[in-house]
Amino acid sequence: MKIAFCCEDTRPEPWLKGLNEALPGAEIAIWEPGVAQADYALVWAPPQQFIDEQATGLKAMFNIGAGVDALLPLTIPAELPVYRLEDAGMAVQMAEYVAQAVIRFFRGLDQYEADMAEGVWQHQRNPKRADYPVGVMGLGKMGERVAKALTVFDFKVNGWSRSLRDMDGVQCFGGMAQLDDFLRQSRILVNLLPLHAETENIINARTLALLQPGAYVINVGRGGHLVDTDLIAQIDSGHVSGAMLDVFREEPLPESHPFWKQPKIILTPHTSARTLAADSIAQIVGKVAAMSRGESVSGRVDLRKGY
Ligand code: GLV
Repeated sequence: MKIAFCCEDTRPEPWLKGLNEALPGAEIAIWEPGVAQADYALVWAPPQQFIDEQATGLKAMFNIGAGVDALLPLTIPAELPVYRLEDAGMAVQMAEYVAQAVIRFFRGLDQYEADMAEGVWQHQRNPKRADYPVGVMGLGKMGERVAKALTVFDFKVNGWSRSLRDMDGVQCFGGMAQLDDFLRQSRILVNLLPLHAETENIINARTLALLQPGAYVINVGRGGHLVDTDLIAQIDSGHVSGAMLDVFREEPLPESHPFWKQPKIILTPHTSARTLAADSIAQIVGKVAAMSRGESVSGRVDLRKGY
């Protein structure tokens, strides 16, 4: 079995080592233009040339991340099965990141940090949990884990997804027709949606204005979901209190971007849920084995839908 590795911005060593250990006898190599046809491929933001040379002969292609937006601009044969990672150790990281962001905002920890740094010992008024309903957009494997984690802290949790879901302890809203109601009932907005034509720019002046006053935005989806200038304007107007952002239209975030200078925005460098090589390899190798037994495999991407 031949496996091609074609992953931008990814240190190949742990992947090659892990794949060699899990699949003794397989030939695993970093893809270069002109190399022999592989049976399977692991990709992250591959170039079109990779697809043109390899795709028709592949049995399957595995995206080593949850989001497949980097594949959407490519021309990929419809018959090629493409799989994305499903959880693979990322959902718990997302839950950690979002829970800390929600709690940090709810408990006013930024103010405490600033006070203590100045030597000021001072209590803020106790926040009322009921005044901080959280809205989670995107209820896939990660969104579901995030929403459940927040219910553990007794937050009122709303969830929105393209098609209506049913989740214990979460008030679910489905489709564009219910988006506005979902936003009106939420103060803290958490975005975990996949990025595609329908969700691009979904956090904008209109949708931010529908959130409850003193809103807060946590973006762990993609930078393309958020209209940056609209967020800044809503923070300037006071309707939005602040944001914690992990993903950006351009990464690394350009030095001149106004987010760097807005003290009410906390930035992290696309780190909310890192791909874990060992967990991901175990999942991919398990799927290859299932395919070779002729079993059906979950996590297949519908490139027309965009996720
Ligand atoms: C990371 O952003 C991913 O899509 O897994």
